[in-house]
Amino acid sequence: MPDNLADAARALLDSRHAVAVTGAGVSVESGIPTFRGPDGIWSRYDPASIELGFFLTDPRASWLVIKEIFYDFFGKAEPNAAHAVLADLETAGVIREVVTQNIDNLHQAAGSRVVWEFHGNSQQLVCLGCRARRPVDEVSLESLPPLCACGGLFKPDFIFFGEGIPEPARSRSFKAAEDCDVMLVIGSTGEVAPASMLPGLAKQTGATVIEINPEPSLFTDATTDIFLQGKATEMMTALAAAMEDSTP
Ligand code: APR
Repeated sequence: MPDNLADAARALLDSRHAVAVTGAGVSVESGIPTFRGPDGIWSRYDPASIELGFFLTDPRASWLVIKEIFYDFFGKAEPNAAHAVLADLETAGVIREVVTQNIDNLHQAAGSRVVWEFHGNSQQLVCLGCRARRPVDEVSLESLPPLCACGGLFKPDFIFFGEGIPEPARSRSFKAAEDCDVMLVIGSTGEVAPASMLPGLAKQTGATVIEINPEPSLFTDATTDIFLQGKATEMMTALAAAMEDSTP
């Protein structure tokens, strides 16, 4: 077993408050592409399509892109082994909470109960008129933009560029970073603030930062204590086995 895997397993087993922070990489093996990187979403679509100003100016054009990316494609994704191990570690009392930048609902689908959705969730739509929320499965996306019964414009309940981080996710995520003694960062470039501030804050308050990513990220050199280089499903499965082996 690689030393760093044993070190990561020991750190998690000895932790009093371990927190996971996940990015798009944790869902790659569920078939959801990353945002950045060789065939990332932003190499095929213009991120301006989900800027709030553009959405309000041309909701139909924005919804055509949103539907293609987040509903026609993402909608069929299932949780993978990395999501499942995280949920098992919560049940075992090792991982106390998950902060995710992802809007794909896969942590909840895998059974994680305490999930702070830093960028919201694509499974709900919110009416910009009356603020009613509806599950996206109950709203037809055949004619765009979808409108609420009140006539208001429906927007996906995830944050667009230009929007603030929703509460309570923002406060609880920063509290988790301050309170944790181990942070497990899975599949994020660390390029988007304020989510990218969480590992550094955890480190400042004395936590051990474990990172899983096939490639180095902006966290790896300056923040990460234990770098498990590899895919999320492989590393999380290996980590679970290493923790099993270390348990007396
Ligand atoms: N397992 C783990 N990590 C992986 C895998 C994998 N199989 N495949 C790719 N990765 C890593 C990449 O190396 C990269 O570091 O996942 C990361 C994906 O980076 P981004 O696409 O930038 O995703 P993320 O960091 O979550 O982006 C943050 O940017 O556009 C916004 O709101 C969007 O939440 C997103 C935010």
